[in-house]
Amino acid sequence: MSRKIVVAGNWKMNKTAAEAEALVKELVGLVSDVCPCKAEIVVCPPFTAIAAAVKAAKGSNIKVGAQNVHWEASGAYTGEISVSMLKELGVEYVITGHSERRQYFGETDHTVHLRTAAALAGGFKVMMCIGETLEERESNRTAEVLDRQLEGGLGGFTAADMENIILAYEPVWAIGTGKTATPEMAEETHRHIRGKVRAMFGDEVAGKIRIQYGGSMKPGNAAELLACPDIDGGLIGGTALKADSFAELVKNAVSGSGC
Ligand code: 13P
Repeated sequence: MSRKIVVAGNWKMNKTAAEAEALVKELVGLVSDVCPCKAEIVVCPPFTAIAAAVKAAKGSNIKVGAQNVHWEASGAYTGEISVSMLKELGVEYVITGHSERRQYFGETDHTVHLRTAAALAGGFKVMMCIGETLEERESNRTAEVLDRQLEGGLGGFTAADMENIILAYEPVWAIGTGKTATPEMAEETHRHIRGKVRAMFGDEVAGKIRIQYGGSMKPGNAAELLACPDIDGGLIGGTALKADSFAELVKNAVSGSGC
């Protein structure tokens, strides 16, 4: 089954609004020849830079996402952001469950589920992140950890909900370290993830769901990772912070996909 690839930049806590505007303006020119039939291109700035990014991306093939969302519609949740706040800005995608949120901000499979459900109800596409730590991989617990994250994050969703879910497999040991999973290792894990989705939701959902790889993806390794049958895109950190390197990565990622 052919799945359209989705390449997203997760800017994390980087870029002011003015910097975001400049980056997106430059990116618009660099990726204007990438057909939307081949790839979805997404940038996820910090909340304060979203409006500037949306304005700069207007009329282009670049979509804008947020890095988090809260499950309540409003209320006393200091430091959080709501679905309606993001919708008003023109956000179309939301990241949930990033390992940095799990590691530093007490995010659990349950809160990832609540955030993901709220984002789906709000009409966003969700990039839900999962991934094992080095210690978990070295003690042969990768499959068990991913299964737990998938069951906790996705349990109770319908096939219709799953249409708007993208999974991002990000091995924690590969994030920002320059250590990428080899294509073989990534493919083996993506195949496991798709198998788990099949067990939970059936063949059709498993065939359709897109699974991004994230963790030190670069222009130089994007094409070989994307050539793997179960890798359908990337979630990019450091390389997404410069328009030229992100554009090069996007082009290399789509180089093998037909239109
Ligand atoms: P790096 O590409 O910097 O390794 O980050 C990956 C990531 O965490 C994207 O969400």
